[in-house]
Amino acid sequence: MDTFALAAVLLFIMGGVTAQVQLEPQNSVVLQSSDARFNCSTRQQAWTVMIWSLNGRLALTILEASGMLNSSNRFSAIDYSTAGESKWEFIIRNVSRNDSGEVSCQIQGSEPVTTGLSVQESGSVEVLGTNWTVMEGDQVVFQCLAAGWFPTPQLSWTVADTLVDQQLFNTSSVEVGTLVNSNSTLKFTAVHNVSVACLASIPALIIPQRSSVFLVVEKVEKPVHRDQTVLIAVIVSVIAVVLLILIIITIVLCCKRRKRAQTNYQGEARAHSQPPKEGAAHPGEGQGQDNLGYVTDPKANDTNSEYTDSGFWKFNYISTIQVPDVVKSNQEANDHYGTLGDNGVRKHRHVTIV
Ligand SMILES: *[C@@H]1O[C@H](CO)[C@@H](O)[C@H](O)[C@H]1NC(C)=O
Ligand SMILES: *[C@@H]1O[C@H](CO)[C@@H](O)[C@H](O)[C@H]1NC(C)=O
Ligand SMILES: *[C@@H]1O[C@H](CO)[C@@H](O)[C@H](O)[C@H]1NC(C)=O
Ligand SMILES: *[C@@H]1O[C@H](CO)[C@@H](O)[C@H](O)[C@H]1NC(C)=O
Repeated sequence: MDTFALAAVLLFIMGGVTAQVQLEPQNSVVLQSSDARFNCSTRQQAWTVMIWSLNGRLALTILEASGMLNSSNRFSAIDYSTAGESKWEFIIRNVSRNDSGEVSCQIQGSEPVTTGLSVQESGSVEVLGTNWTVMEGDQVVFQCLAAGWFPTPQLSWTVADTLVDQQLFNTSSVEVGTLVNSNSTLKFTAVHNVSVACLASIPALIIPQRSSVFLVVEKVEKPVHRDQTVLIAVIVSVIAVVLLILIIITIVLCCKRRKRAQTNYQGEARAHSQPPKEGAAHPGEGQGQDNLGYVTDPKANDTNSEYTDSGFWKFNYISTIQVPDVVKSNQEANDHYGTLGDNGVRKHRHVTIV
């Protein structure tokens, strides 16, 4: 090493021509265990030696004529030089955290050019618990653990692949040695099935690390069931009451009808079983029309009308006024039933039935 350095110094002294040098990229951020690459280029043709150093320590010497002088497993370079430009890519393999710092390239006869190197560590991320099953409307709390990161990872959440607002979750971090553990809590109300993912990222990660679980939301059917049960109970009760009323009405009607039929039958039976009236010359005379002109008591003439047993109103008129023919015919009919008075005098009555 020392001989190489000495040689470089000698070459620097021998040269002494200033060159325009460019170092890229500026501030490289890489993950631990990966490779860090830097390009050093100049349009100046007349250079002899290029020196790469990491955090002030000589890493690699490149001669324009013969290439790398002291390559190793860790430090190497690729020549990308073209006709108009000299360009070497310096590669640091398997970087570690303590490689972070400054990388510089110095071409003979010019000031060293420096850039930053930052080595970061990507840890693990996990949403605690497996797939969840909750009831609709439940408040769910998700926890995300990110362990072994450097620097502090930025945690974020997605619900159904949509980024969750930062105000809806809390994140805290603790340093454990040279690493950081972070913890994030997300709360929300379960509405429907969703995938919930926690993302952890650091600048060196192109794609954030993620962990996701699936939230299965079961629709709350209990209250609905209860309501339905109540509704069904009410409907059944109402139907039962209506049926009962209908049955009662039917029974009452039937009884009434049966009673009526029975009384009718009894009446008929009585009528049939009654013997003919005494003295009735012809059968059925009992049902025949009464002699409306017949009066048992002659003194009953004083009353013009009276209610009789037969249920007819009798109107008795003494024949003092002239009556029309219609009445006459009646009169004739009644004459037939003319009776003899106590004194043996035949009485004539003219009766009009209304
Ligand atoms: C360096 O330059 C070469 C050629 O232009 C390019 O392919 C390579 O990606 C560059 N490397 C970096 C680290 O920029
Ligand atoms: C840098 O870290 C590596 C392993 O990560 C270790 O082997 C090495 O000794 C460390 N170097 C310094 C200077 O700390
Ligand atoms: C975040 O923390 C604050 C204070 O501890 C608390 O009031 C708030 O409810 C938390 N929010 C969430 C989403 O956990
Ligand atoms: C969680 O749910 C997803 C989507 O339904 C499924 O692919 C995955 O296998 C489930 N994981 C577990 C641990 O049950």
